[in-house]
Amino acid sequence: MKISVIGCGYLGAVHASAMAELGHEVVGIDVDVDKIRALAEGITPFYEPGLPEVLSSALASGRLRFSADIADARGSAVHFIAVGTPQKAGSNAADLRFVDAALHALIPHLQKGDLVVGKSTVPVGTAARLAEVLSSSGSGAILAWNPEFLREGFAVQDTIAPDRLVYGVAAGEDGRRATAQLNEVYATAIEAETPLVVTDYATAELVKVAANAFLATKISFINAMAEIAEVSGADVTQLADAIGYDSRIGRRFLNAGVGFGGGCLPKDIRAFTARAEELGRGESVAFLKEVDAINLRRRQRVVDLTVAALGRSVHNAKVAVLGLSFKPHSDDVRDSPALDVAVQLRGLGSDVMATDPQAIENSRLRHPQITYSTDIEETLRGADAVVLVTEWPEFKSIDPVWAAGLVNSRTIIDGRNTLDAAAWRDAGWNYYGLGRP
Ligand code: UDX
Repeated sequence: MKISVIGCGYLGAVHASAMAELGHEVVGIDVDVDKIRALAEGITPFYEPGLPEVLSSALASGRLRFSADIADARGSAVHFIAVGTPQKAGSNAADLRFVDAALHALIPHLQKGDLVVGKSTVPVGTAARLAEVLSSSGSGAILAWNPEFLREGFAVQDTIAPDRLVYGVAAGEDGRRATAQLNEVYATAIEAETPLVVTDYATAELVKVAANAFLATKISFINAMAEIAEVSGADVTQLADAIGYDSRIGRRFLNAGVGFGGGCLPKDIRAFTARAEELGRGESVAFLKEVDAINLRRRQRVVDLTVAALGRSVHNAKVAVLGLSFKPHSDDVRDSPALDVAVQLRGLGSDVMATDPQAIENSRLRHPQITYSTDIEETLRGADAVVLVTEWPEFKSIDPVWAAGLVNSRTIIDGRNTLDAAAWRDAGWNYYGLGRP
């Protein structure tokens, strides 16, 4: 199929490359000329494992090209809108200006029979509004909403072999046509019997925010248990193991620590709350405010624990921060708990040196006041406290005996409960986990 993908960020660049890899003829479009130029040369503008390989192979096949001109969408049968929906400045609501701009720019280039497919995460009701815009444009194109569930770090795999497909379509003949076109796009996944839910626009939009709200709630639930464990002497990691054996609960997303961040979970739960309030049902998701508050308290907890563990004035104390990205295998620092902790410790007057395998550049752009090092050894040398805030394998495999020889004081705060506490204690460290004695 001929496909256009509008927006080549974390979502669109992966989607465009994966669709070409699956055999479609794809044009990726973005207003950022530098990004387009890089992608056309096979350079990914962000770190995502496996993406450089898929991008190069798709470019070499001749099935993938990139353009900064929306007119190049003309001739494609299916147009994916994959632009960002960030949090609006000064509000919890989602900023839809990029989605609206993408559709308006696309309309003059649409042809009768084209399918426009929204992939961006949007407040419920957006698709119905955009379908109106599309139908009154007289283009003859129709709309579907097809939310994306990819996880950063596994984005390529999640796009090529998703765990489910959700199509939000119009009623009647238009809906049947949209479904048939999407089935052609996702022929490989359909053949592999990937579960498919075909529904209306509102349900499709809600599936995405509900999934993220559930995941955020699960993480904040275990972090709330960590808070109780901290005042009762219990160990939240053992608690998570024990409740996780109940298959109705499950162990995944029950890792207590510094909490969730990234470009999706935090802003999606806030946008969901804002939309529910607009719809007069704020109370139905009022708990998401608690989920958000618990999550933000965990960052503060890591900072407080570090200050307390230092055993000296925080001013000019050397603090080694391991991790900056919001999770491992990503260079994304949007709403990153790790970067937030580093910034707060710097703000208290400590001498922060931070390291991360991929996220230093993005962090430096936002927070040049922090000292960064690409070298773990340099980061640890002379530290009065070490704070691990992103569970990169590189940090998990640090030998505590080796590290003990580098630091000024053997104090480690494991903000992800990821280290072998006994091994670190045996090497003479004061080990502090979150929600652990
Ligand atoms: C998320 C959803 O998982 C994905 O389906 C959706 O499409 C986009 O949002 P992503 O933002 O890539 O994906 O990250 P995810 O793996 O969900 O992790 C989110 C945050 O939660 C990270 O900061 C991670 O460190 C944290 N987390 C995750 C925990 O603190 N504890 C856990 O047990 C799991």
